[in-house]
Amino acid sequence: MRNKTKPSPHIPLFTMKESDIVESSRYAISLVLHLFLLLLLFFHLITCNPINVPNKILLNCGSNEGSTFNGVNWIGDVGSSFLPPEYDKSSSTLLISSIKSRAPKVPYSTARITHSPLTYSFPSSPGLKFIRIYFLSSSYLKKMNLSKAYFSVKAGPYTLVSNFNPFNFAEELNLVFFTKDFLVNVGEENLKITFTPSPSISNAFAFVNGIEIFPVPHSIYFPSSMVPYLGHQEPFFINDEYALEILYRVSIASEYSADVENAFGTWLDDSNYISGSQSGSVLSITHRIVRMNFTTLTSKDYNYSAPEELYLTARTMGSNGDANMKYNLTWSFPVDSGFKYLVRLHFCEISTEVTQVHQKVFKVYINNETAEERMDVVALAGGPFTPLSRDFVVMVPSESGRRKDLWIALHPNLELKPTYADAMLNGIEIIKLSDSNLSLAAIFELRREQRKKKVPHVIIVAGAILGTILGLLTFFILIRRAWKKLKWGTSHILSSKSTRRSHKNIQPTVTSGHCRQFTLAEISIATSNFSEALVIGEGGFGKVYKGMMHDGVTPVAVKRSNPSSRQGFKEFQNEINVFSFCHLNLVSLLGYCQEGNELILVYEYMAHGPLCDHLYKKQKQPLPWIQRLKICVGAARGLHYLHTGTSQRVIHRDVKSANILLDQNWVAKVADFGLCRTVPSLYHSHVSTEVKGTLGYLDPEYYKRRKLTEKSDVYSFGVVLFEVLSGRPAVNPVAVEEESEKAGLAVWAMHCCQFGTIDQLVDPYLEGNIKPECLRAFVDIGIQCLADRSADRPTMGELLNSLERILLQDSLEEQEINAT
Ligand SMILES: *[C@@H]1O[C@H](CO)[C@@H](O)[C@H](O)[C@H]1NC(C)=O
Ligand SMILES: *[C@@H]1O[C@H](CO)[C@@H](O)[C@H](O)[C@H]1NC(C)=O
Repeated sequence: MRNKTKPSPHIPLFTMKESDIVESSRYAISLVLHLFLLLLLFFHLITCNPINVPNKILLNCGSNEGSTFNGVNWIGDVGSSFLPPEYDKSSSTLLISSIKSRAPKVPYSTARITHSPLTYSFPSSPGLKFIRIYFLSSSYLKKMNLSKAYFSVKAGPYTLVSNFNPFNFAEELNLVFFTKDFLVNVGEENLKITFTPSPSISNAFAFVNGIEIFPVPHSIYFPSSMVPYLGHQEPFFINDEYALEILYRVSIASEYSADVENAFGTWLDDSNYISGSQSGSVLSITHRIVRMNFTTLTSKDYNYSAPEELYLTARTMGSNGDANMKYNLTWSFPVDSGFKYLVRLHFCEISTEVTQVHQKVFKVYINNETAEERMDVVALAGGPFTPLSRDFVVMVPSESGRRKDLWIALHPNLELKPTYADAMLNGIEIIKLSDSNLSLAAIFELRREQRKKKVPHVIIVAGAILGTILGLLTFFILIRRAWKKLKWGTSHILSSKSTRRSHKNIQPTVTSGHCRQFTLAEISIATSNFSEALVIGEGGFGKVYKGMMHDGVTPVAVKRSNPSSRQGFKEFQNEINVFSFCHLNLVSLLGYCQEGNELILVYEYMAHGPLCDHLYKKQKQPLPWIQRLKICVGAARGLHYLHTGTSQRVIHRDVKSANILLDQNWVAKVADFGLCRTVPSLYHSHVSTEVKGTLGYLDPEYYKRRKLTEKSDVYSFGVVLFEVLSGRPAVNPVAVEEESEKAGLAVWAMHCCQFGTIDQLVDPYLEGNIKPECLRAFVDIGIQCLADRSADRPTMGELLNSLERILLQDSLEEQEINAT
């Protein structure tokens, strides 16, 4: 209901009269308070100079000089601006220099030890920061009682470790020196890292050898979409409330640290983590043989995520399929119990024999839960030699604070009769998620605070005046609200009246939140309050806006249902329920918002819009043939995945060129799942249902018999193929041939085929650009899709294969032409 966001106009008027005295006194107090606060802020802003924020900080704790080690510059913390000045003399901290050990000299040859809380304060810009803390556990601390080295480390509001004893930790891992790596969202312009000796242990102390800090892109471990939460119905959204600890990054049978500046990546050999007697076999290729196709899924923030080397080696189960069926290829990693973990698995099919979908399909288990029932790397990545990563969140239940194993296992899945009974993996990352003590609201508050500070000084005075006015207004409103609450009795009657009045418009509530829920306020900010200037489309459901998420870099498409109609509700609900797929060729639903009678869906933004715009909108540059083919292949992959790729078979029901969207790289993604239906089980071959869909694309069998199968999507896709070829819409394609005008593109295509005039079907722009064999093959497969009986149509998988073959042939010929 609307009056949630806007105070009802009746109430203030009503309460004004009765509360004059109370209100005016509160008003006066607030005025004085507010002016005072503003004055303070004003002075603060004038006196503090903007600080130069270094991109990377390397702090050598306990050292009084800078040092260069292995080509990087470290700053000594003694006398540095990162510590409050009293630490220089204070005896509360102890410096240990010239520690002898085999550890790298910097930062491990010095340490700072404290018996009371010690806070380092680093200048920082807001955003995600990588924080690495260095610890050396060796005999240098002999004179200290090691059992007293229990402490916690906090970064801003986030507790990174608590009751941590580095000696026990090192002993368990059989290490002498180690680092703890974290990712923390910093909301302010400085980052405080505090070491606090455990208060529960008398004479406890904390120590640290070094600290490293640098900024990283937010998206790296905070995916913008939901992550499957194993063992739970609803997926998981990793929001800024979590501080992340990078526990494991392993690659296959090799070890390397990324040498790119600011990349935090030591990737360790996975063979230490293989559990069970069988470790499969290692497959590896070199750069020279193939070029990796980095897609939008993996190329983002490339320096910070997995390096290309990771994908050049894979562990497979081996070539003996029968033997493979008898075991699980298993890795296990010790972790703290009682926490959630983000498990990121990296895949890239590098076997030259596996290039098609359904050649290698396997199950992925994480801690006894099925993470992927049918992992088909080629299908999901969109091809061989294409890196892909998959995220999962898993809870490791608490077992009196003990460490437990988190394990990952692979096993072939023969259900779809793949060519090889095998499984493979290229890399594993395990990230611990820790709740912060700050609520999300408080983080937003911090951000806002910080944004205020960024304003140039000239505007500050004007801002302050404006702020006063706004502040006063806010106070005024707040006080009225408070008063309204006090006078609950009367206003309750009023508001229940207004509820009844607007009852007609109340929507049922969405029953299952399969994705992130946005507030109307967030959406409103993202779309500049639904500015008409941002409208990028309009459909039956309502308007579609281009928006910008609060990070300021992620564009989104916001689909807002027409508030006056209830029609969209079922589709809305359906889209949220059905939509938990993640596939390169399906548009991702990022979240939704239901507030009052607002129904809003938030999707990834598709820069080039719907395919139909590029086929028959005059003002757009026509697409070349190869690109059209690639788009068909992409869309077919998306649909094939819907039909077979998940545990449920999903029928799209509204395949058309308007529902195939193109991203900034011209990758085709299928959209609009409002009419999707899932086929209940393998025993049902079809669902019967009322006929929905779009004229011109409707499967005649479905239309006549109400029998809905995956083949209905194949039919509609056939129509799309002819749209792509002819550059004409599905309905009223030709004005030239009177009699076929009403019939639609499908009938006209059949007609042309029958009379051997397929040349007429070709978009004049493409004339002479399509090899005759390719044209024939393309028309053939298109006509098969349009078969009257669904049994005569190819499956989406067969269709995909044919299209891929045509594309391959076409590109091969193009290369030949280029070569000669
Ligand atoms: C593989 O792991 C799964 C999940 O725990 C288990 O159900 C299955 O029995 C295991 N298979 C073999 C062959 O060990
Ligand atoms: C996995 O499931 C099996 C059978 O339910 C159980 O015996 C085993 O303890 C479970 N393992 C883990 C790690 O949860």
